[in-house]
Amino acid sequence: MSQFWNPQIIRWYEEAMQWHNYPQSVLGKIFHREILESDTVLDAGSGIGAISLYVASFCKKVKAVDSQAEALKFLREKAQNLGVQNVETYLGRWPDVDVGYADVAICTYSPPISRSIPGLQKLIDVTKRTGIILTPNKNMHDNKVFSELASILGIQRKSFCSNGCWEKGFLESKGVKLQCSLISHDFSQPVSDYGEAWDFIKNQLDAPEHIRERALQIIPDYLDNKNGRFLIPIIRENCLIIFSKTQGGRK
Ligand SMILES: C[S@@+](CC[C@H](N)C(=O)[O-])C[C@H]1O[C@@H](n2cnc3c(N)ncnc32)[C@H](O)[C@@H]1O
Repeated sequence: MSQFWNPQIIRWYEEAMQWHNYPQSVLGKIFHREILESDTVLDAGSGIGAISLYVASFCKKVKAVDSQAEALKFLREKAQNLGVQNVETYLGRWPDVDVGYADVAICTYSPPISRSIPGLQKLIDVTKRTGIILTPNKNMHDNKVFSELASILGIQRKSFCSNGCWEKGFLESKGVKLQCSLISHDFSQPVSDYGEAWDFIKNQLDAPEHIRERALQIIPDYLDNKNGRFLIPIIRENCLIIFSKTQGGRK
Protein backbone atom coordinates (compact mmCIF):
# COMPACT_ATOMS: atom_id res chain seq x y z
CA MET A 1 0.00 0.00 0.00
CA SER A 2 1.40 3.41 -0.86
CA GLN A 3 1.82 6.03 1.88
CA PHE A 4 -1.64 6.62 3.39
CA TRP A 5 -0.80 8.88 6.32
CA ASN A 6 0.90 12.26 6.24
CA PRO A 7 0.44 15.24 8.60
CA GLN A 8 -2.37 16.71 6.48
CA ILE A 9 -4.32 13.45 6.26
CA ILE A 10 -3.83 12.84 9.97
CA ARG A 11 -5.25 16.29 10.70
CA TRP A 12 -8.30 15.68 8.45
CA TYR A 13 -8.91 12.26 10.03
CA GLU A 14 -8.60 13.64 13.56
CA GLU A 15 -11.03 16.46 12.77
CA ALA A 16 -13.57 14.06 11.26
CA MET A 17 -13.21 11.71 14.25
CA GLN A 18 -13.83 14.53 16.71
CA TRP A 19 -16.73 15.95 14.76
CA HIS A 20 -18.53 12.60 14.57
CA ASN A 21 -17.29 11.12 17.84
CA TYR A 22 -15.79 8.14 16.00
CA PRO A 23 -15.44 5.32 16.98
CA GLN A 24 -17.78 5.66 19.97
CA SER A 25 -20.77 6.72 17.86
CA VAL A 26 -20.50 3.78 15.46
CA LEU A 27 -18.93 0.97 17.48
CA GLY A 28 -18.95 2.05 21.14
CA LYS A 29 -21.86 -0.18 22.24
CA ILE A 30 -20.46 -3.18 20.38
CA PHE A 31 -16.97 -2.80 21.85
CA HIS A 32 -18.37 -2.42 25.38
CA ARG A 33 -20.52 -5.53 24.88
CA GLU A 34 -17.77 -7.73 23.41
CA ILE A 35 -14.63 -6.66 25.31
CA LEU A 36 -13.88 -7.65 28.90
CA GLU A 37 -11.56 -5.78 31.28
CA SER A 38 -9.17 -8.75 31.31
CA ASP A 39 -8.93 -8.91 27.49
CA THR A 40 -5.98 -8.41 25.19
CA VAL A 41 -7.32 -6.74 22.05
CA LEU A 42 -5.70 -6.76 18.62
CA ASP A 43 -6.26 -3.72 16.39
CA ALA A 44 -5.18 -4.83 12.92
CA GLY A 45 -4.62 -1.86 10.61
CA SER A 46 -4.74 0.52 13.56
CA GLY A 47 -3.79 3.63 11.60
CA ILE A 48 -3.41 6.53 14.03
CA GLY A 49 -5.15 4.59 16.79
CA ALA A 50 -8.80 5.63 16.68
CA ILE A 51 -9.84 2.16 17.85
CA SER A 52 -6.77 1.29 19.96
CA LEU A 53 -6.95 4.42 22.08
CA TYR A 54 -10.71 4.08 22.54
CA VAL A 55 -10.72 0.44 23.72
CA ALA A 56 -7.52 0.84 25.79
CA SER A 57 -9.55 2.49 28.56
CA PHE A 58 -11.61 -0.64 29.21
CA CYS A 59 -9.39 -3.61 28.37
CA LYS A 60 -6.11 -4.99 29.73
CA LYS A 61 -3.86 -4.49 26.72
CA VAL A 62 -4.07 -3.42 23.07
CA LYS A 63 -1.79 -4.67 20.30
CA ALA A 64 -1.90 -2.09 17.50
CA VAL A 65 -0.52 -3.25 14.16
CA ASP A 66 0.10 -1.10 11.13
CA SER A 67 2.44 -1.14 8.17
CA GLN A 68 3.02 2.62 8.28
CA ALA A 69 5.54 4.03 10.72
CA GLU A 70 4.07 7.55 10.51
CA ALA A 71 0.72 6.29 11.80
CA LEU A 72 2.21 4.36 14.71
CA LYS A 73 4.46 7.27 15.67
CA PHE A 74 1.40 9.51 15.90
CA LEU A 75 -0.46 6.83 17.88
CA ARG A 76 2.38 6.50 20.42
CA GLU A 77 2.67 10.27 20.87
CA LYS A 78 -1.07 10.61 21.35
CA ALA A 79 -1.10 7.72 23.85
CA GLN A 80 1.66 9.42 25.80
CA ASN A 81 -0.20 12.75 25.81
CA LEU A 82 -3.34 11.02 27.04
CA GLY A 83 -1.43 9.00 29.67
CA VAL A 84 -2.45 5.70 28.03
CA GLN A 85 0.09 3.00 28.89
CA ASN A 86 -1.46 -0.26 27.74
CA VAL A 87 -1.07 0.04 23.95
CA GLU A 88 1.81 -1.83 22.28
CA THR A 89 2.57 -0.95 18.66
CA TYR A 90 3.79 -3.41 16.03
CA LEU A 91 5.16 -2.05 12.78
CA GLY A 92 4.73 -4.56 9.99
CA ARG A 93 2.63 -5.85 7.17
CA TRP A 94 -0.23 -8.11 8.20
CA PRO A 95 -0.20 -11.16 8.02
CA ASP A 96 3.63 -11.28 8.17
CA VAL A 97 3.92 -9.55 11.54
CA ASP A 98 3.96 -11.73 14.65
CA VAL A 99 1.71 -10.48 17.45
CA GLY A 100 0.80 -13.66 19.33
CA TYR A 101 -2.83 -14.14 20.37
CA ALA A 102 -5.65 -11.80 21.34
CA ASP A 103 -8.97 -12.42 23.06
CA VAL A 104 -10.67 -10.00 20.68
CA ALA A 105 -9.42 -8.99 17.23
CA ILE A 106 -10.66 -5.81 15.58
CA CYS A 107 -10.14 -4.76 11.98
CA THR A 108 -11.89 -1.58 10.85
CA TYR A 109 -11.68 0.09 7.47
CA SER A 110 -8.69 -1.99 6.45
CA PRO A 111 -9.78 -4.10 3.44
CA PRO A 112 -6.17 -4.92 2.50
CA ILE A 113 -6.18 -6.95 5.74
CA SER A 114 -9.73 -8.28 6.06
CA ARG A 115 -10.29 -8.81 2.34
CA SER A 116 -7.36 -11.06 1.63
CA ILE A 117 -7.26 -14.80 2.24
CA PRO A 118 -4.01 -14.86 4.28
CA GLY A 119 -5.00 -11.65 6.11
CA LEU A 120 -8.41 -12.86 7.21
CA GLN A 121 -7.17 -16.39 7.93
CA LYS A 122 -4.58 -15.00 10.31
CA LEU A 123 -7.18 -12.80 12.01
CA ILE A 124 -9.22 -15.96 12.67
CA ASP A 125 -6.12 -17.87 13.84
CA VAL A 126 -4.90 -15.30 16.38
CA THR A 127 -8.38 -14.62 17.81
CA LYS A 128 -9.24 -16.56 20.93
CA ARG A 129 -12.85 -15.45 21.32
CA THR A 130 -14.34 -12.71 19.13
CA GLY A 131 -13.50 -10.90 15.91
CA ILE A 132 -15.04 -7.56 14.95
CA ILE A 133 -14.67 -6.45 11.33
CA LEU A 134 -15.98 -3.21 9.85
CA THR A 135 -15.54 -3.25 6.12
CA PRO A 136 -16.89 -1.11 3.27
CA ASN A 137 -19.98 -2.44 1.58
CA LYS A 138 -19.92 0.42 -0.90
CA ASN A 139 -16.94 2.27 -2.25
CA MET A 140 -16.52 5.62 -0.44
CA HIS A 141 -16.12 7.21 -3.87
CA ASP A 142 -19.71 6.22 -4.71
CA ASN A 143 -20.74 9.17 -2.51
CA LYS A 144 -22.51 11.82 -4.60
CA VAL A 145 -19.86 14.45 -3.97
CA PHE A 146 -17.07 12.28 -5.36
CA SER A 147 -18.93 10.55 -8.18
CA GLU A 148 -20.56 13.73 -9.57
CA LEU A 149 -17.47 15.90 -9.25
CA ALA A 150 -15.33 13.23 -10.87
CA SER A 151 -17.74 12.98 -13.75
CA ILE A 152 -18.15 16.78 -14.22
CA LEU A 153 -14.41 17.37 -13.99
CA GLY A 154 -13.49 14.40 -16.16
CA ILE A 155 -11.48 12.59 -13.48
CA GLN A 156 -11.04 8.87 -13.77
CA ARG A 157 -12.27 7.42 -10.45
CA LYS A 158 -10.19 4.83 -8.63
CA SER A 159 -12.36 1.77 -8.71
CA PHE A 160 -12.06 -1.29 -6.56
CA CYS A 161 -14.30 -4.12 -5.64
CA SER A 162 -16.27 -3.30 -2.52
CA ASN A 163 -18.44 -5.92 -0.99
CA GLY A 164 -18.41 -6.96 2.66
CA CYS A 165 -19.95 -10.30 1.73
CA TRP A 166 -16.48 -11.46 0.74
CA GLU A 167 -15.42 -11.53 4.38
CA LYS A 168 -18.75 -13.08 5.41
CA GLY A 169 -18.43 -15.81 2.79
CA PHE A 170 -14.85 -16.63 3.75
CA LEU A 171 -15.67 -16.80 7.47
CA GLU A 172 -18.68 -19.04 6.79
CA SER A 173 -16.56 -21.34 4.66
CA LYS A 174 -14.27 -21.79 7.69
CA GLY A 175 -17.23 -22.79 9.86
CA VAL A 176 -16.91 -19.71 12.10
CA LYS A 177 -20.12 -18.50 13.76
CA LEU A 178 -20.96 -14.95 12.78
CA GLN A 179 -23.50 -12.17 12.79
CA CYS A 180 -23.48 -9.41 10.24
CA SER A 181 -25.36 -6.17 9.75
CA LEU A 182 -25.23 -3.07 7.61
CA ILE A 183 -24.08 0.13 9.27
CA SER A 184 -24.11 3.61 7.77
CA HIS A 185 -21.48 5.87 9.17
CA ASP A 186 -21.65 9.63 8.62
CA PHE A 187 -18.00 10.53 8.25
CA SER A 188 -18.53 13.87 6.48
CA GLN A 189 -15.30 15.79 6.40
CA PRO A 190 -15.16 19.15 8.19
CA VAL A 191 -13.14 21.75 6.27
CA SER A 192 -12.58 25.41 6.95
CA ASP A 193 -13.14 26.79 3.44
CA TYR A 194 -13.62 25.94 -0.24
CA GLY A 195 -9.86 25.78 -0.79
CA GLU A 196 -9.47 23.12 1.87
CA ALA A 197 -12.47 21.26 0.42
CA TRP A 198 -10.66 21.17 -2.92
CA ASP A 199 -7.47 19.90 -1.24
CA PHE A 200 -9.41 17.05 0.38
CA ILE A 201 -11.31 16.11 -2.78
CA LYS A 202 -8.14 16.35 -4.85
CA ASN A 203 -6.43 13.97 -2.45
CA GLN A 204 -9.33 11.52 -2.47
CA LEU A 205 -9.77 11.51 -6.24
CA ASP A 206 -6.13 11.93 -7.10
CA ALA A 207 -7.25 14.88 -9.22
CA PRO A 208 -4.81 17.03 -11.21
CA GLU A 209 -4.08 20.55 -9.89
CA HIS A 210 -4.89 22.22 -13.21
CA ILE A 211 -8.65 21.69 -12.72
CA ARG A 212 -8.61 23.55 -9.36
CA GLU A 213 -10.32 26.73 -10.63
CA ARG A 214 -13.11 24.80 -12.33
CA ALA A 215 -13.56 22.59 -9.26
CA LEU A 216 -13.79 25.61 -6.97
CA GLN A 217 -16.78 26.89 -8.98
CA ILE A 218 -18.65 23.62 -8.44
CA ILE A 219 -17.59 22.60 -4.94
CA PRO A 220 -19.79 25.13 -3.02
CA ASP A 221 -22.92 23.42 -4.42
CA TYR A 222 -21.92 20.18 -2.73
CA LEU A 223 -20.92 21.35 0.74
CA ASP A 224 -23.15 21.36 3.83
CA ASN A 225 -22.78 24.10 6.39
CA LYS A 226 -23.29 23.08 10.03
CA ASN A 227 -22.55 25.21 13.08
CA GLY A 228 -20.39 27.52 11.00
CA ARG A 229 -18.29 24.69 9.56
CA PHE A 230 -18.32 23.43 5.99
CA LEU A 231 -18.78 19.68 5.61
CA ILE A 232 -18.03 17.51 2.59
CA PRO A 233 -20.92 15.02 2.86
CA ILE A 234 -19.60 11.47 3.09
CA ILE A 235 -21.69 8.54 4.23
CA ARG A 236 -19.76 5.31 4.55
CA GLU A 237 -21.84 2.21 3.95
CA ASN A 238 -20.32 -0.69 5.86
CA CYS A 239 -20.77 -4.30 6.82
CA LEU A 240 -20.21 -5.06 10.46
CA ILE A 241 -19.21 -8.67 10.96
CA ILE A 242 -18.80 -10.18 14.41
CA PHE A 243 -17.42 -13.70 14.54
CA SER A 244 -17.20 -15.91 17.55
CA LYS A 245 -14.87 -18.82 18.25
CA THR A 246 -16.50 -19.91 21.49
CA GLN A 247 -19.87 -21.57 21.97
CA GLY A 248 -21.38 -19.29 24.53
CA GLY A 249 -20.27 -15.84 23.35
CA ARG A 250 -18.09 -13.63 25.53
CA LYS A 251 -18.48 -15.31 28.94
C1 LIG B 1 -8.24 3.57 6.67
S1 LIG B 1 -7.02 3.12 7.84
C2 LIG B 1 -8.07 2.57 9.16
C3 LIG B 1 -7.54 2.93 10.50
C4 LIG B 1 -8.35 2.50 11.70
N1 LIG B 1 -8.60 1.06 11.73
C5 LIG B 1 -9.62 3.28 11.86
O1 LIG B 1 -10.70 2.70 11.86
O2 LIG B 1 -9.53 4.50 12.02
C6 LIG B 1 -6.34 1.58 7.22
C7 LIG B 1 -5.01 1.25 7.86
O3 LIG B 1 -4.62 -0.09 7.52
C8 LIG B 1 -3.21 -0.10 7.33
N2 LIG B 1 -2.89 -1.29 6.53
C9 LIG B 1 -3.31 -1.57 5.28
N3 LIG B 1 -2.82 -2.76 4.89
C10 LIG B 1 -2.07 -3.24 5.93
C11 LIG B 1 -1.34 -4.44 6.14
N4 LIG B 1 -1.28 -5.41 5.21
N5 LIG B 1 -0.70 -4.61 7.32
C12 LIG B 1 -0.77 -3.66 8.29
N6 LIG B 1 -1.46 -2.50 8.13
C13 LIG B 1 -2.10 -2.30 6.97
C14 LIG B 1 -2.90 1.22 6.65
O4 LIG B 1 -1.56 1.59 6.81
C15 LIG B 1 -3.88 2.15 7.39
O5 LIG B 1 -3.26 2.75 8.49
